[in-house]
Amino acid sequence: MKTRIIKPKKISDLKKPAKLLHEGKLVAFPTETVYGIGANALNSNAVRKIFIAKGRPADNPLIVHIADKKDLSKLVKRIPEKAKKLIGTFWPGPLTIVFEKSPLIPKIVTAGEKTVAIRMPKNKIALELIKLSKTPVAAPSANSSTKPSPTKAEHVLEDLDGKIDAVVDGGKTEIGIESTVLDLTSKTPMILRPGKITKEELEKVIGKVYTRTKNGKVAKSPGMKHKHYSPKARVILFSGNEIEKLLKKHKCKKIGVIKFENSAEEFARNIFSDFREMDKLGFEIILVETVPKMGLGVAIMNRLKKAAGDK
Ligand code: TXA
Ligand code: MG
Repeated sequence: MKTRIIKPKKISDLKKPAKLLHEGKLVAFPTETVYGIGANALNSNAVRKIFIAKGRPADNPLIVHIADKKDLSKLVKRIPEKAKKLIGTFWPGPLTIVFEKSPLIPKIVTAGEKTVAIRMPKNKIALELIKLSKTPVAAPSANSSTKPSPTKAEHVLEDLDGKIDAVVDGGKTEIGIESTVLDLTSKTPMILRPGKITKEELEKVIGKVYTRTKNGKVAKSPGMKHKHYSPKARVILFSGNEIEKLLKKHKCKKIGVIKFENSAEEFARNIFSDFREMDKLGFEIILVETVPKMGLGVAIMNRLKKAAGDK
């Protein structure tokens, strides 16, 4: 299959990819977090193609993207009070909420779970594309399974050229790491994946929020058990002057170094792209400086630890 590259200059340029989506084709598009590979969420055959293109395990459910808050009610069984508050504050934006699903959502989207993850992205292209496609859009990050998430259209093509029908090129994504995933179907609100919206920000709106710990009893985020975000090179994390020792220890290897220099925001925006760049340059080891574990730093450290093999 030939993958079309669409660089929209005006909104009407999105009509073509929206039509492709509507018809059950695969279209990658930018969101404010990372690029997603989209399919008509109500079409099982279309969604199945996502799993094949990505090489994604069938037990890892997808996020359904909407462009209008009004579209939520038909996709879920009920909208809890806490969800209403969060939606009012953070949608459109990088917060995915897990609800009980309605019968409208095909099983393949949720990997057979009774719950569905939904988000309304804050990116003009994403919103217009979904609106024009006239359907909710199931979209995981547009990388091959286990690779770092794509933050540019080029990254999407590196992994999926020839495997998807089109990619809409909207330039580099703003945030650079994936949305916060919050489960509101358990007794207490539970962060399944940390992201740009922090625990503290959520708690200001709905009170106590818990974080799913690796060894915790709640085995809720199916995706958490899968390998993720890894460059080909071995990733080793360091803090402060540990770098000297590591450089000495691995001096026969081709080593790349990523330092934490300015803000967590800037670090998040570039980290996946840096991983891909360093793989292209053939580095065997990437030393990455740890980031203070506060605010966005919590989500960054989550991704870095996974990249370093702490599953
Ligand atoms: O920022 C993002 O969320 C990006 C953009 C494209 O929107 N999408 C993304 O999708 O990161 P993906 O598929 O790479 O990650 C979705 C995560 C996975 O860890 C998955 O297991 C979890 O959300 N998830 C999806 N549906 C779920 C459900 N019903 N219950 C629990 N976790 C769910
Ligand atoms: Mg992903």
